[in-house]
Amino acid sequence: MKTLVVVVHPNLADSRINRTWTEALEQQPISVTVHKLYEVYPDRTIDVAREQQLLEAHDRIVFQFPLYWYSSPPLLKQWLDEVFLYGWAYGTDGGKLKGKQFGVAVSTHGPASGYAADGANRFTLRELLRPFEATAHYVGASYLPIFSLSDVDHVTEAELAGNAKDYVKFVTNEHVTV
Ligand SMILES: Cc1cc2nc3c(=O)[nH]c(=O)nc-3n(C[C@H](O)[C@H](O)[C@H](O)COP(=O)(O)O)c2cc1C
Repeated sequence: MKTLVVVVHPNLADSRINRTWTEALEQQPISVTVHKLYEVYPDRTIDVAREQQLLEAHDRIVFQFPLYWYSSPPLLKQWLDEVFLYGWAYGTDGGKLKGKQFGVAVSTHGPASGYAADGANRFTLRELLRPFEATAHYVGASYLPIFSLSDVDHVTEAELAGNAKDYVKFVTNEHVTV
């Protein structure tokens, strides 16, 4: 299983959670391709052919980002719009993502209890992140359970270290897809 982690954080240097997750992936022995979109494309000009090649070369694609207004930072939406093209991702001669696994890993400022029907945010993270699940379904990919870390301002260094280990397992382990 070859895994690509698309890291979408506009400022990893100032990040605590996503930087820790990314460093944990880069340090572990099982090979995972860590692709930091904002660092690869600082001027937001995406090399579509390169991205498509990268996707074709991997079996599992994990999108990792901090939750921004109940969604991803904007470069991921641009990347999806530009890379998941007719004739490649879907449509005639498409289907290049069929049979792959998609996953989402997200950090949130709000506490986990808020991501529920009776919580401050009204919806679960799975519900809020439905566009990723629907996109996976549309292109014939399966979808992993969401990996999340919430209430990030109250996560201790020890908790974050343990969570980063769990994250590496999430990225590298076999899963029952949802
Ligand atoms: C523009 C913006 C929008 C945000 N929207 C949300 C949100 O909708 N829900 C939430 O829980 N946190 C929100 N946050 C907080 C981030 O998710 C949080 O700072 C991030 O997950 C921390 O990860 P990091 O240490 O890797 O930066 C937002 C932050 C920014 C800058």
